[in-house]
Amino acid sequence: MTPLPLYSRITGTGSYLPPRRLSNADMVDLLAKRGLETSDEWIVERTGIRARHFVDDGVNASDLAVQAARSALTAAGRQAAEIDLIIVATSTPDMVFPSTAAILQHKLGVAGCAAFDLQAVCSGFVYALTVADAMIRAGTATKALVVGAEVFSRILDFDDRTTCVLFGDGAGAVVLEASDTPGILATELHADGSHVGILCVPGTVAGGQVLGDPLLKMDGQAVFKLAVGVLESVARSVLAKAGRTAADVDWLIPHQANIRIMQSTARKLKLDPARLVVTVDQHGNTSAASVPLALDHAVRAGQVRTGDTVMLEGVGGGFTWGAVLLDF
Ligand code: ACO
Repeated sequence: MTPLPLYSRITGTGSYLPPRRLSNADMVDLLAKRGLETSDEWIVERTGIRARHFVDDGVNASDLAVQAARSALTAAGRQAAEIDLIIVATSTPDMVFPSTAAILQHKLGVAGCAAFDLQAVCSGFVYALTVADAMIRAGTATKALVVGAEVFSRILDFDDRTTCVLFGDGAGAVVLEASDTPGILATELHADGSHVGILCVPGTVAGGQVLGDPLLKMDGQAVFKLAVGVLESVARSVLAKAGRTAADVDWLIPHQANIRIMQSTARKLKLDPARLVVTVDQHGNTSAASVPLALDHAVRAGQVRTGDTVMLEGVGGGFTWGAVLLDF
């Protein structure tokens, strides 16, 4: 019997943002047409966001996912046909069913391998990476494509200025392969469903129509308070599991939602602010896509290099949160 691999390792990263970019000034104009006020100063000061990308009509999560996936496959030197597991983390799938992962598989021109979606909102990528790592170490898969892809512009309420300026569309992907060397060192996932109401899209599809409200609702301050607490505790927990300390972390890549939450996490872990990867300014909160987008950006910018220790952290609706510590 072939021995089980000790680790899974990221061998390639990719990402994609749709071309339509809206600056904060564009959002000021867009909201003014609806009789609402906002400003570049308010958005930058409260969130760090300067721009977001929105898809055009007819473009779906799988269209963004396929671009990010191709880029990750190229970086890993792999063909789509070599992949034996596809997981897409998304809260904005193309259809109720089948999964966006199955649609992505077909768009990549392959068939046969396992493919499924994973729904953990903004923690989705960290959840998906943890599942793929476990499946690889269990011998169920050897080469996984793990993707976060979202079209949040479809579920935004453009009459609610407190939420619509925060989110954007995009996709990020990694190829994760069985390896005898690290690799993913430790993972941890959590959820607390008692907080469902503070961040949700409460509507559903039934009887041929949308029942309830199909647009995003968020109690920003409640989310903020929970996020700063759990991001510190889950980071410390995965470090302890891996026998490492915060001083070993070369790069912290938290969910890109709000610069103040990210900086607070880095401060609590006593990390040099220069070790924090920040891309939220360029694409806003892209939910499950944000962590792989930021990782790919940091890799292509020459920040994250082979051998670096990287902490990925997700937090979002559910309430869900989790972290993955890895040697890149
Ligand atoms: N432009 C101008 N003013 C605004 C805007 C806007 N776009 N939105 C709200 N305001 C006003 C409010 O009306 C309020 O005015 P008032 O004082 O006259 O009543 C004032 O700004 C302050 O509003 P707050 O809601 O108190 O602002 P806060 O400092 O809490 O910032 C924010 C809001 C940015 C949403 C913050 O709470 C936050 O980032 N929360 C966390 C969000 C997050 O991290 N989500 C991650 C998970 S996402 C996921 O899982 C899908």
